[in-house]
Amino acid sequence: MSRVVHVLNGPNLDRLGLREPDIYGTATYADLVARIESGADGLGMEIFVRQTASEGELVTWIHEAGAEAEGLLINAAAYTHTSVAVRDALLTLTIPVVEVHISNPDAREEFRRTNLLSDVVTATVKGFGASGYLLGLEGLKGLLDGDG
Ligand code: DQA
Repeated sequence: MSRVVHVLNGPNLDRLGLREPDIYGTATYADLVARIESGADGLGMEIFVRQTASEGELVTWIHEAGAEAEGLLINAAAYTHTSVAVRDALLTLTIPVVEVHISNPDAREEFRRTNLLSDVVTATVKGFGASGYLLGLEGLKGLLDGDG
């Protein structure tokens, strides 16, 4: 059965390829989306990928995922470390949520160790580069199919 999954990306992820390539790699955001789409295809998932710099928009899209998707994959980027609003929005959901980070925030600056989301999501994937999105999708599929 095809699973509907929303993939939400927060601020500055549209700058992939340009921003701190030593940390985030040289692939662009368009490359990332293409990779996610092809991975989702292989897993028989129907996905909807979006990116925003706006905290309010991210909150609205989390609500939409709750209404329309069976699972959510989210990289809230910097909002991971600051946003009570994103945390509260995730708390409204009953679908499984996988948090993904390209880098491993715990191995970086001290402030990135504050994570307002990790205790309200189903699982977290971090430090695997862009492949983390594909690992997250695989994990979500396992959870949704009951063999995770
Ligand atoms: C990030 C890690 C965050 O600390 C940072 O603010 C980002 C990207 C990651 O994917 O590694 O923008 O979420």
